[in-house]
Amino acid sequence: ESAGLTWVEANISVCPEVVAQAVRVLETVSAASKDFELKLEEHPFGGAAIDAVGEPLPASTLKACQEADAILMGSIGGPKWGVDAKVRPEPGLLTLRKTLGLYANIRPASFASESLLENTPLRPEIAKDVDMIVVRELIGGLYFGKRKEANVEPDIGTAWDNMIYSEEEIQRITRVAAQIALTSNPPMEIHSIDKANVLACSRLWRKTVTETLTKEYPQIKFDHQLVDSTAMVMVANPRKLNGVILTENLFGDILSDQSSVIPGSLGLLPSASMNGAPSQPSEDFKPTLGLYEPIHGSAPDIAGKGIANPIGTILSAAMLLRYSLGLAKPATAIEDAVRKVLDLEKDGGYGLRTADLGGNVCTVELGDKVVEVLKKILVEVYFECI
Ligand code: NAD
Ligand code: IPM
Ligand code: MN
Repeated sequence: ESAGLTWVEANISVCPEVVAQAVRVLETVSAASKDFELKLEEHPFGGAAIDAVGEPLPASTLKACQEADAILMGSIGGPKWGVDAKVRPEPGLLTLRKTLGLYANIRPASFASESLLENTPLRPEIAKDVDMIVVRELIGGLYFGKRKEANVEPDIGTAWDNMIYSEEEIQRITRVAAQIALTSNPPMEIHSIDKANVLACSRLWRKTVTETLTKEYPQIKFDHQLVDSTAMVMVANPRKLNGVILTENLFGDILSDQSSVIPGSLGLLPSASMNGAPSQPSEDFKPTLGLYEPIHGSAPDIAGKGIANPIGTILSAAMLLRYSLGLAKPATAIEDAVRKVLDLEKDGGYGLRTADLGGNVCTVELGDKVVEVLKKILVEVYFECI
């Protein structure tokens, strides 16, 4: 089986640096595998596309994404096209997500080598044994409601953003959370996060989540919590939130960045944006087009220095193999390789750390080591297959 893959990137961003490492990792899998031939295309997106053709999501990029088997993205945005710019990168990403119908954003916060406990800003006993997956609704809510900019005529000195959710939008993301909870080993509980003490959308959210789970998934344990105190619990006692964190677009954006404090860096966490629940590779695996990107942004403060952590993007590539191409074994091999690179020497690893985790290894050196370890693991994986 061969796979087309679209790679979109932006300038003034750590994107090219971290994506290059994820691409090397995919190339390594492709070279070792009989069932995966990487066909990589690169397309302009975000700031790079604004500079080249005046818009963040050129029609040719959108078309290539629609035709691809999977999309790997670094991140977009940056001070050159900041919040006051006429044309900005971020709406391009929103249009891409919306056009492809990618309503389910899956952000596992729990990938951690035990060795990372050395680097978490939390006390190790607080950060220990956390296992949470944020399931964020991605194409509704405040991000996509009608809005009025204050500086657009008629300028009435007021701006507004509409938050809208339909029952159907809440049902479908609840089902994704439920599928993930059920297929986790062991099955997880669901924490649905809202602001139902204030927002009408949240009251509909709470009612619809309760109805959907009670009717369709009576075996799943779930609760509802308010987003403000959830933010506190997430860093004070994060194990209390172990399970699937089911939430709407904006709350999920904020909580997923916050969850990265637990393993220790925003640079570590991957994400998958899909049109439905990810199906696990098996006999009845259904390949789904997905957009895979780290949860972090373009990190303008460190862009171009070669010191960004590529692990979030490398792990996004692993999710891509598993969920869009059904290649579970190489996906697991990538995750194992990353773990070994992070594990301390006393635990049989290499203990490498980029600067965000207090280390002095640069982006390429980390990529080198992941590729080196991955090659060895892949020999075993494909040898076992024969
Ligand atoms: P950011 O995620 O870019 O950076 C926040 C902090 O985390 C910075 O200190 C940065 O250096 C650090 N960081 C991020 N990624 C890192 C990595 N791989 N390794 C080491 N450190 C890392 O958030 P921001 O500064 O608030 O936003 C910058 C721009 O990124 C904005 O234009 C925003 O819109 C955009 N953004 C894009 C995406 C995306 O494309 N998916 C996601 C988030 C933000
Ligand atoms: C993310 C980013 C995006 C979002 C921005 C860049 C539009 O922060 O993917 O988390 O808010 O969804
Ligand atoms: Mn974000």
